Amino acid sequence: MTNGLRGDSSNHGRRTWIAGTGRAVPDRILTNADLEKIVDTSNEWIIARTGIEERRVAEDDEYTSQFAVGAARQAMEMAGVEAADIDLVLISTVTPDMPFPSTACLVQEEIGARDATAFDLNAGCTGFVYGLSVGHQYVASGAASTALVIGAESLTKYTDYEDRSTCVLFGDGAGAVVLRGDDQPASDSRNGLPGVLSVAIHSDGSLAHLLEMPGGGSRNPPNRPETLEARLPFIRMLGNETFKVAVRTLAEVSGEVLADAGHEADDVKWLIPHQANRRIIDAVGRRIDVPSDRVYVNVHRYGNTSAASIPIALDELNRDGRIGSGDLILMAAFGAGLTWGAAAVRF
Ligand code: UT7
Repeated sequence: MTNGLRGDSSNHGRRTWIAGTGRAVPDRILTNADLEKIVDTSNEWIIARTGIEERRVAEDDEYTSQFAVGAARQAMEMAGVEAADIDLVLISTVTPDMPFPSTACLVQEEIGARDATAFDLNAGCTGFVYGLSVGHQYVASGAASTALVIGAESLTKYTDYEDRSTCVLFGDGAGAVVLRGDDQPASDSRNGLPGVLSVAIHSDGSLAHLLEMPGGGSRNPPNRPETLEARLPFIRMLGNETFKVAVRTLAEVSGEVLADAGHEADDVKWLIPHQANRRIIDAVGRRIDVPSDRVYVNVHRYGNTSAASIPIALDELNRDGRIGSGDLILMAAFGAGLTWGAAAVRF
């Protein structure tokens, strides 16, 4: 038995489904050729080791809440919900507009969701799956009827462009979903109706040092000159070790939610893994036996957008009509914490 918050969603509470998706990314594109001019790297190395060809980068006057608002508006329009309908605005981010107030409160105001409760959640690149889990719990319990769950990041603002091992990896943007619930039991989604079938989320703080931004918080505060001198408010990663844990945990948690949802890899229409590295994505697909033509990849166009990566990918598939009614979507993520999680959702 796996510890943590296990996937047993569709046996409890009210049926909860994804009613709309949306995304917003900055216009500016940073290519591998651009990076070759900044650090000692090459297009060939970046493509061979990560699969990334380009990433979207926020301008100086662009920031996380703006991308979140853009994605939220699209998801609300698709779902046919008004701002007044929204009970919960939940933003998963490691790159908020500011430490406080929460980015969710800023977005609440911008979209006019006056009656909503708004808060942020930090689970690194697993943030969207954590957000889906939390939003789902509130909707399934009846505490909320409509929840806006957003993954939004401006990672390039915290990227150290003197560190070639990380600066080639990250990009900016946001993705959003509208979760809705009704008074049908969750178990109805097992009988073919749209619904969140299972979500599992896990953490292991003993591996926190593998992926961190050590400065800018209370441990290495911004008001000490040495924090910036030591380049602490930047993303740091022990890539190789992180890679190995990522492949193992992504495969494990994908298997966990599939089994809990009563499905097999064959039933999955799309596996949407967190888009960190093409090699991780391919390895996970192989391990859980989802053929490569059903594993969604957009890391070559966006790089790693942390909590935004899965909802951006989900919206690309959904908006292009590549997800049909009844399709089973498996999302799996991994990130700082360390954290990992997966969700099986029927559209
Ligand atoms: O989203 C949250 C989770 N994050 C992840 O899942 C990321 C997991 N890790 C990775 O994706 C990979 O580990 C990286 C893409 C970050 C790195 O790939 P790697 O194959 O693990 O490379 P490495 O760190 O073992 O480095 C291999 C070599 C080193 O040179 P030496 O020591 O062998 O001479 C690096 O210095 O590649 C060198 N290197 C580079 N060379 C050119 C590292 N970065 C670069 C670069 N360009 N940008």
